[in-house]
Amino acid sequence: MNEKINVIKEAFEKDILTIIDMKTLNDIRTKYLGKQGKITELSKMMKDIPNEQKKELGILVNEVRCLVTDSLEEKKKDLEEKALNEKLASEKIDVTVPSKKVKRGSKHPMTRIEEKFEDLFLSMGYTIYDGPEIESDENCFQKLNLPKGHAARDAQDTFYLKDEFENYLLRSQTSTAQVRAMEENTDKGPLRIVCPGKVYRRDEDATHSHQFMQIEGLVIDEDVSMADLKGTLELFCKTILEEKTKVRFRPSYFPFTEPSVEVDVTCFKCGGKGCPLCKQTGWIEVLGAGMVHPNVLEMSGYDSTKYQGFAFGTGMDRFAMFKYGITDIRTIYGNDIRFLTQFDRKDDE
Ligand code: PHE
Repeated sequence: MNEKINVIKEAFEKDILTIIDMKTLNDIRTKYLGKQGKITELSKMMKDIPNEQKKELGILVNEVRCLVTDSLEEKKKDLEEKALNEKLASEKIDVTVPSKKVKRGSKHPMTRIEEKFEDLFLSMGYTIYDGPEIESDENCFQKLNLPKGHAARDAQDTFYLKDEFENYLLRSQTSTAQVRAMEENTDKGPLRIVCPGKVYRRDEDATHSHQFMQIEGLVIDEDVSMADLKGTLELFCKTILEEKTKVRFRPSYFPFTEPSVEVDVTCFKCGGKGCPLCKQTGWIEVLGAGMVHPNVLEMSGYDSTKYQGFAFGTGMDRFAMFKYGITDIRTIYGNDIRFLTQFDRKDDE
C-alpha cells in the first residue's frame, strides 16, 4: 500500500507538468479524483486494510489527496490569471490613436430663420402662438371675412379633408392664428402674438412649394395705428435682412385687413439698382399686412369701436432663400443631406 501511494504521487508530479489548459487540467483531475480515479481507489482499498495499519495509511492517503487537490487548485488559478492577462493585453485601448471624424448635425436653414424671427419678436414683447395645421373652414376663411364663395378664396382653396371632415383643410395661411388667439383671449383685451408654422397651397415651382412656412403677427390694443405697423415692419426687415434695407408700402387688398398693404424691400442682391432677381425693379415683395378689419374683430368677440389692431404675414422660406442664397425652394423640403450639410458651419447667430 505504501508503495502504491508513492507510485501515485510520482505519477501525479509528472502529470501535473503536462497541464496546459483547462481541458488537460480537468482530465487529470478525473484521472486522480474522479469516481474511478487513482486516489478514490486508494480510499476504497482502505476498508480491507488491517485495523492497526489504518491510521498510518489513512494519514498518507489523505496527504496525497490534499497534495493533488491543492496542486490542481493552484494550477487552475494560474491558468485563469494567464487567460485574464491575455484578454487584457488583447483589449488594450490606445488612447493616443486619432479618433474617427465625428459627424455633428446642424440646424436646418428653416429652423435657423424661425429662431431669428422668434428672437426678434420676443424681444418686442410678443408671445409665440402655436396653431394646428388642420384647420376648419371657419377659422381659415369665414372668420377672416372670407365667406363661402368669396373670390379671394380661389388662391388658397386647396387641401381639404374627406367625408365628415370636408369642412376641414390643411391651413393655407397662418392668419388662422388671429382667429384662434382672439377667441381664446376671453377677456377680449390687448394681444401681441406671432405664429410661425407650416401652411399648404397648390403652388409648385422654383420659388413656390405646396408646403411652406409663414409667420403671422397680430397686435390688438386700444390705440394702434398704421404708424405702429410701419415702424414694426421696418425694424423687422432691417433686423432680419440688412440695416441698409429700404422698405416700401404699397396699397393692396386682403379680406381680413382694411386698409391693406404689401411690403417690398430693396433687392438684397443688387441693392436696388435692378437685376434679374428683382426683375429689374430694384424691389422684392416680402409681406402682406394691414389694419385688422372691424368685421374680423367683431366675429371673434372684440369691440371694434374700442380696439384696433394690425396684422402681418410673411413667408419665412423667402427670407431663408435670401439670407442663405437658396435658389430653389424645393431643396428646403427635399431633405437631401448634400444640401443640408452646407449649413453645418453657417454659424451666423
Ligand atoms: N395671410 C396673408 C397671405 O397668406 C398675408 C397677410 C397676413 C396679409 C396678415 C395681411 C395680414 O397672403
